[in-house]
Amino acid sequence: AKQWRGVLHEYADRLDVSDKTPIISLGEGGTPLIYAAALSARTGAKVWVKYEGMNPTGSFKDRGMTMAVSKAVEAGAKAVICASTGNTSASAAAYATHAGITAAVLVPEGKIAMGKLAQAIAHNAQLIQVQGNFDDCLDIARELSANYPVHLVNSVNNDRIEGQKTAAFEVVEVLEDAPDFHFIPVGNAGNYTAYTRGYTEELERGISTRLPRMFGFQAAGSAPLVNGSVVKNPETVASAIRIGNPASWDLALAAREATDGYFGAIEDDMILAAQRILSAEVGIFVEPASAISVAGLLERAEAGQVPAGSTVVLTVTGHGLKDPQWALKNADGGEIAPTIVPVDVSEVASVLGLAKGSA
Ligand code: F0G
Repeated sequence: AKQWRGVLHEYADRLDVSDKTPIISLGEGGTPLIYAAALSARTGAKVWVKYEGMNPTGSFKDRGMTMAVSKAVEAGAKAVICASTGNTSASAAAYATHAGITAAVLVPEGKIAMGKLAQAIAHNAQLIQVQGNFDDCLDIARELSANYPVHLVNSVNNDRIEGQKTAAFEVVEVLEDAPDFHFIPVGNAGNYTAYTRGYTEELERGISTRLPRMFGFQAAGSAPLVNGSVVKNPETVASAIRIGNPASWDLALAAREATDGYFGAIEDDMILAAQRILSAEVGIFVEPASAISVAGLLERAEAGQVPAGSTVVLTVTGHGLKDPQWALKNADGGEIAPTIVPVDVSEVASVLGLAKGSA
């Protein structure tokens, strides 16, 4: 049987790849678009979830990384570098090692989720913890790539955006048009930019009939695009988007303008509540940063900004297993401890609240 071949093969006609491009792929893309009945019932919209946690390293970064690493190898690079809140480093490490080149990754010390740290190390990256935040890491990575023989694979590299735009192609293919609204988490705003580009190309080719309104969300303690100014010390439980100075700031503003879009800020407790709703009611487990798409939809629907019957797509960017600690806390922040029982059927039945009798 034929399997999905990764975004560079599947969309070769839509990307700058040629016979000379060595395609470095782990089979990324082709992720499910899942109809979420529970979210549709809560909002009155038709809500679909683009589950990017299903990519090879568990986040959407793989779509951009297959392109960026393939083009880097085509250009003769022997090493790539990135700054990261975790997912980019996991992805860069996997694709670089698959290509037989080195990845150096700079992460903010003590500020990235354990699963992501483990991935970068497992994939043999040169991992450096910087005593600063993500924005400091990106400054260093940019300067290193300008002055040393290392190829930058952050989303300031246009190859990343190109690869990531393929997610919009997949959405249009499944829905047979673009949705009315697209909700997405925003950190550097690379992915917000990428979806806008993908949808714009679909419209220009006559494959879709509209541009979705692009609704991007930042954590309230880390919302420079909402505030309109750089945040010096960004804070949020959504460590993936703890970014105070988005690299794609100007592109993001242009994308919002072009799509009649919106940037909103969401408090951490609402992010975690949305994460719980998605996992407990829909069956999709995502990391906190990804849940902000859900929180944003609930907030905008509550504000009357999502007309009943609208088609809505939420991108959920990263898998819940990368940062599982939040799922083990209740809404008050207390630890959730599963009940312990002796080896005894009637004890288990009693804990489960089962009365004797056949099913
Ligand atoms: N969601 C997740 C899970 C992410 O890891 C990121 C970014 C975003 C959303 C935001 O995407 O930056 O394109 O607006 N993570 C980067 C990283 C910064 O280093 O992994 P963006």
